[in-house]
Amino acid sequence: MMRAILFAYGVTDKRVWVADSFAGLPPGDPEKYPLDAGSDFHTYEQLVIPLNEVQENFGTLGFLDEQTVFLPGWFRDTLPGAPIDRLALIRLDGDMYESTLDALDALYPRLSTGGFVIVDDYHVVPACQAAVFDYCARHGIRPEICEIDGVGVFWRKDATTDGDQPAEIEGVGAEDDALAERILLAMISLRKMALERMARVIALRDERIVFCQQTMSDLKEDIAQRDAHIAQRDAHIAQRDVELAAIRASMSWRITRPLRGLKQLARAIMPGGK
Ligand SMILES: C[S@@+](CC[C@H](N)C(=O)[O-])C[C@H]1O[C@@H](n2cnc3c(N)ncnc32)[C@H](O)[C@@H]1O
Repeated sequence: MMRAILFAYGVTDKRVWVADSFAGLPPGDPEKYPLDAGSDFHTYEQLVIPLNEVQENFGTLGFLDEQTVFLPGWFRDTLPGAPIDRLALIRLDGDMYESTLDALDALYPRLSTGGFVIVDDYHVVPACQAAVFDYCARHGIRPEICEIDGVGVFWRKDATTDGDQPAEIEGVGAEDDALAERILLAMISLRKMALERMARVIALRDERIVFCQQTMSDLKEDIAQRDAHIAQRDAHIAQRDVELAAIRASMSWRITRPLRGLKQLARAIMPGGK
């Protein structure tokens, strides 16, 4: 989406860096990062999206070009030495303490003053929020955290609140600030749209669930009715069996039965006879 925004604004001198293991999240290292103890994100197969699949998606949109750079591997290995001079916007979505801290350690110093940081999981993964807090505390940064949607947050790098971070990076001007701001606004509004769509999907699913529950209860009623019919029929059959047994035991049965036998015998002896 960030690449699409650059395209939409006709920006050709900026790149999007796509950093990911493309193999899911790392197993937690609780000795080094106690807040990742118990994290089981590395077992989530739905977070394992291979590089070729992501590249194909970029390609489908025509964005698999020199403005999109992939950094496959663990953040701890790829980000510190990545050939990135400066960044207008950093979007973190690593879900873990380690992943958030590694990314901030490597990237925040390269963020232009006036640039933005978006942290996707701030309110849903406490370890992620703690990593932001620890990083900022360690560097004397007092970010003005802004809410996005109750889940993610962002803040703007500001010389007056940024502690030991370099106050200004050479060559960064108002133009970069304006672009960073436009990208941020576009991302926020798209994210809101995505959340609204998700809410609609959930409402639709709820409707379907109610419909299925109704169908289930109708079916149960049908089955109960059918069971009642079967029981009724069984009762009739049982009653007829009792009646039949009574007839068989009756005197008339004892008389008519041998007579019928005789009749059959007579027919056999005199074919055509009545
Ligand atoms: C919740 S997913 C978000 C993916 C993507 N940002 C999106 O919105 O579709 C988290 C991603 O971070 C990657 N990730 C998390 N920690 C990582 C780390 N330490 N190094 C490399 N990739 C990591 C995972 O592979 C996964 O693709």
